Amino acid sequence: MWIRVRIFSSFTTLLLVMLVFMLLVVGRVRFELTITAVSRRYPNQLDYRPIETLTTILILLRFNSGSSTGEEMLVGDFSEEEKDGLYKAIYARRDVRSRFTSRPVEDEKLAKILDAAHQAPSVGFSQPWNFILIKNIQTRRRVKESFEQERRRSAQLIKDETERSDKYLSFKLEGIMESAINLCVTYDPSKFGPFVIGRTSIPEAGPYSVCCAIQNLWLAARTEGIGLGWVSILSNDALVEILELPEHVVPVAYLCLGYVDRFAEKPDLETAGWLPRLALDDVIYFEKWAGAGSNDGRWDGTREAVRAYGRSPRS
Ligand SMILES: Cc1cc2nc3c(=O)[nH]c(=O)nc-3n(C[C@H](O)[C@H](O)[C@H](O)COP(=O)(O)O)c2cc1C
Repeated sequence: MWIRVRIFSSFTTLLLVMLVFMLLVVGRVRFELTITAVSRRYPNQLDYRPIETLTTILILLRFNSGSSTGEEMLVGDFSEEEKDGLYKAIYARRDVRSRFTSRPVEDEKLAKILDAAHQAPSVGFSQPWNFILIKNIQTRRRVKESFEQERRRSAQLIKDETERSDKYLSFKLEGIMESAINLCVTYDPSKFGPFVIGRTSIPEAGPYSVCCAIQNLWLAARTEGIGLGWVSILSNDALVEILELPEHVVPVAYLCLGYVDRFAEKPDLETAGWLPRLALDDVIYFEKWAGAGSNDGRWDGTREAVRAYGRSPRS
């Protein structure tokens, strides 16, 4: 009995010692990491401003302890309904050039979808976008002129294929004058620059980031019942001049935004028989381009799933 109590109590003591040790070690590491972070961020404050430094450390400690006690978002925190909402927005998003109504876009709603755009990922967190909101009719008229010019110019490229060229010219490919708001999304490489993490080898990562913001905007607008159409049949030089962009700023997208009376189920160009949607398994390769890698069976399940999914009614 006595021996059992001794063994039990020494085992408990050991556990307690280990627990205290771990708390001390882990706590110390976290504390030192915090001190390092603070001293990097506020090199002068650590030496000369003890009160502010202490406050900062306390805030950071709170932040640190928050992240280890589950205040971060959990994996799997989307309910089935929320997941369905996201996929619905993705599948129901359309490029809209016609069917704009005269209903104005509410300021709060506009701010909301712009903020959704602003939450996009960006290379090195450079947030290289700006959104120029346009209502002015004269400005739009000038942009529309550029569109007409560019459309005629591009039609020349297929002038020998009369049927295709006529079809192309018959399409409605912009809603510049009819939409409630025009919006130019620009790329500014000078923000936080010139050194941006991740942009040193692939400079295009900058404009790619702007495209991520545009996609967020597009999806958010769709969920709010607001249509968005991208107009790229434009001269960037004309946009630079009309919108008085600084030399280093590049227009990435010119968008037409506004409430619509309905959204098409399929892309207009698909409905018009211009191009079909490719099958999902035609655009997915395994290991190397066109599946040239070894076929050891490890992708068989995925290949089958992709084929099956591609045949599902959603596509
Ligand atoms: C970069 C980019 C440029 C586009 N430019 C135009 C354009 O100038 N005119 C137009 O009518 N649609 C334009 N679109 C819309 C595409 O035609 C449309 O996304 C495509 O046909 C698929 O239709 P959906 O967006 O409704 O799914 C553009 C889309 C992207 C992503």
